[in-house]
Amino acid sequence: MSRRARVPAKINLQLSVGPTRPDGFHELVSVFHAISLYDEIVVAEGEPGTGIRIIVSGDYVDLVPTTADNLAARAVSMVAARYGRDADFLVQIRKSIPVAAGLAGGSADAAGALLATDALLGNELSRDDLMAMAAQLGSDVPFSLAGGTAVGMGRGEKLTPALARGEFHWVLLADTGLSTPAVYAEFDRLNPKPTHPKINEAVMHALRSGDATALGKALTNDLQAAAISLRPGLSQLLDVGVEYGALGSIVSGSGPTIAFLVRDEEHALDVAVAATSTGFTGAIIRARGPVVGARLGDERGSQSHQH
Ligand code: C5P
Repeated sequence: MSRRARVPAKINLQLSVGPTRPDGFHELVSVFHAISLYDEIVVAEGEPGTGIRIIVSGDYVDLVPTTADNLAARAVSMVAARYGRDADFLVQIRKSIPVAAGLAGGSADAAGALLATDALLGNELSRDDLMAMAAQLGSDVPFSLAGGTAVGMGRGEKLTPALARGEFHWVLLADTGLSTPAVYAEFDRLNPKPTHPKINEAVMHALRSGDATALGKALTNDLQAAAISLRPGLSQLLDVGVEYGALGSIVSGSGPTIAFLVRDEEHALDVAVAATSTGFTGAIIRARGPVVGARLGDERGSQSHQH
């Protein structure tokens, strides 16, 4: 018996970072947007006494930890504990979402593991239970479950769906290896006295009217300067989007992935080809959003991601 879940990556359309809270997290206003780039998680019962075994396949295999501190392993243990079960499971992670990239790939795997393990053990947990467990696992995990376009407050985990119309097309220049805590620490160094974050009305208005041009102009990320400070090459890459007529270009989350908002699929192809010619060595990914959050599939199903 095994169960499979498919979970999307996210980008941030707004990421406003405020002061550090007593628990060490930063106060945030984040507008999350789920895009059509997916990891798949398959959870199967293991032999008694074997613990949690993680097998990673697909892209970025070497970058995913397979120890008990893997976020998906922690999610499986958490669900098993709720059922009063020993945590003996085989967890397969089929990766397409770049790792440590600002795309919430680790959070996606944790969300998929929560859903698949609950399904395997009898589907007894409510949506609220799963959301609460997701919030314990990480600030972005509740959104990976929810999907769509949503405003995240608190440390990012308190979600409200955003009114959004239409579909948006994106080109990602996806790179790996910027650690989220390191980028927040650099943000603190650059911003000794941040103000309390507020919802960006221009972003909300553009989403409500489905206006890609307005959204492109409104995209905003307070971590962008910190990410560029740690990866100076990012500013040149951001310019590539401007040069090829992207409606907006932004670092996603803590980076180092850059997201270009483009007009349509044809424009996405043009920008992707242009990005290839810059010598950029990461993955160039075309995606659309919003898409639904973590969903269960059949046990055997096939990969469904696009590059
Ligand atoms: O919640 P998550 O485990 O994804 O957070 C990873 C790291 O990102 C935290 O340890 C912290 O350094 C930083 N972070 C933060 N404020 C937030 C979210 C994350 O400082 N609201």
